Amino acid sequence: MGFHVVDHPLIRHKLGLLREVDTATSKFRALTREITNLLTYEATHDMPLVPECITGWAGPVQVERLQGKKVVVVPILRAGIGMMQGVLDLIPSARVNVVGLYRNETTFEPVEYYKKFNPDIMDRTAIIVDPMLATGHSMAVTADMLKQNGCASIKAICLVAAPEGVAEMNRRHSDIAIYSASLDDRLNENAYILPGLGDAGDRLFGTR
Ligand code: URA
Repeated sequence: MGFHVVDHPLIRHKLGLLREVDTATSKFRALTREITNLLTYEATHDMPLVPECITGWAGPVQVERLQGKKVVVVPILRAGIGMMQGVLDLIPSARVNVVGLYRNETTFEPVEYYKKFNPDIMDRTAIIVDPMLATGHSMAVTADMLKQNGCASIKAICLVAAPEGVAEMNRRHSDIAIYSASLDDRLNENAYILPGLGDAGDRLFGTR
């Protein structure tokens, strides 16, 4: 399925504003939502449609409706919350299934501390949202959790990805298509993306 950089002038422009060190919290939040709108548009380009005949102003008219699998947005706490509304703007009927992970400071592996999935998650398409695809461990564990609960249709959206995270997802979940505004250069020694955005959670929630 692979990794897709959504290369569009509006996304490039907004990402440039997001990268500025002194972007205000409110602006950072708004830009994240707008970029997520654009990424969602691209990530849903293959949603199947069914024909339907409705009554229009001049009589019967053939239209199309989205078919089949309902969508669930899966924000990874905490920064994923910042992208949630960006998906919901376009898919208002989507459910929200939150995943909470913390990092084990010895192994550096993510450990689950919270999850709330719809009972019918196996019949839904999940869209994982997390602004920074850094090591890829959190996204991969989230995909593991979804698959363990029977969800077979999974996509992911991030703002910025590192090659290391893309490689990790490709190794563990090559069936998942990932949509990103950028593929950045690399991770630093603290697993932050360069040039990146810094701590996306702090910037979204104003906790710097
Ligand atoms: N998480 C962040 O918030 N920023 C990074 O660069 C990597 C992980």
